[in-house]
Amino acid sequence: MDYIVQMKPSFDENERSAMNEYMSSDAWLMEFKKTREFEQMIAQYTGAKYCSIMPNGTLSLSVALLACGVTKNDEVLVPNYTMVATPNSVELIGAKAVFVDIERHTLCMDFEKMREAVTDKTKAIILVSINGRYPEKIEEIVQYCHEKNIYVIEDAAQSLGSFYGERHVGKYGDVASFSFSVPKIITTGQGGALITDNEALYKKILLIRDFGREKSGEDHYLVKGWNFKFTDLQAVIGIEQMKKLSDRVLKKRKMGEIYYNNLQNINGVELIETNLEETTPWFYDILCDRREELIEFLHEHGVGSRRFYPPLHSEPAYEVEGEYPITEEISRKGLWLPSWIGLEESQITMICRLIRQFYEND
Ligand SMILES: Cc1ncc(COP(=O)(O)O)c(C=O)c1O
Repeated sequence: MDYIVQMKPSFDENERSAMNEYMSSDAWLMEFKKTREFEQMIAQYTGAKYCSIMPNGTLSLSVALLACGVTKNDEVLVPNYTMVATPNSVELIGAKAVFVDIERHTLCMDFEKMREAVTDKTKAIILVSINGRYPEKIEEIVQYCHEKNIYVIEDAAQSLGSFYGERHVGKYGDVASFSFSVPKIITTGQGGALITDNEALYKKILLIRDFGREKSGEDHYLVKGWNFKFTDLQAVIGIEQMKKLSDRVLKKRKMGEIYYNNLQNINGVELIETNLEETTPWFYDILCDRREELIEFLHEHGVGSRRFYPPLHSEPAYEVEGEYPITEEISRKGLWLPSWIGLEESQITMICRLIRQFYEND
């Protein structure tokens, strides 16, 4: 039996022939019509007025911060439990990432702890919808921040295909960022996108990502800007991947149902509540006892898995003092199970059987 990897990209003849067709046309390779088309598709799917695509979901977060006017020495609140790109995007522009502990049932930033962390220097928060989930008090968080003139930037890197009520995740804050790196529900190898309904923010985003130029190709610079543009080569893949998104959303939710049903009532495994009517899990996550032994056991049986992110405050890159008990606990116990879109039902039930066997034959 082939080893079941935790994640890999998925593409087929459609991507191959679209690329072939593009390369047989008058292709300029750099971003142009294909990138604009890809942006339109993201805007339409998420219900955003504007979308701008960038080389990756780390740079897009930095651009969002710059567009919101975040600058050197400003503070930006970020959850301690997230992919390291979230705080790094803040530090890249010379601002300071301030870590906040998370709430245990959603793994998102804790509202009360967030309020305690706000200072006069807080210019923005980056709200991470980790694994497609929102914090319980999303509406209160946004309202609180706006009353205090704090921008809400959503890091929705893991959330394409997840909704909250009527709205796509990313539509609650001022601007939201997505990632199209390989483990995501759609991928362009690398890639990121910002969506917003705010025209002024959008215009700033366009300037920042294209050397500060008022008009592409005309050398007149309104602000200091950089080159954070995409390529049509990647957009060709992105367009084909977007055509598959709705089916993938259904499939990922169905896969979640199979995982969560088959992992009920195992002593040693805790499931994180997930509303599969709205949320499309990026990875299937569990909290488990004896995690290292379970990883080894699964690996010996041909199943890959991946540990949750570490508490970022204690990583050598940051080494910040502070109490983050929830992050520490879930980072110690959290495990991502195989989440590749091509997994079959029989493989998922087999993985769940193995996990049950590990705990029940103990
Ligand atoms: C929550 C979160 N933020 C940001 C990023 C960074 O995105 P990228 O890898 O496209 O730079 C990721 C990527 O995995 C992520 O999961």
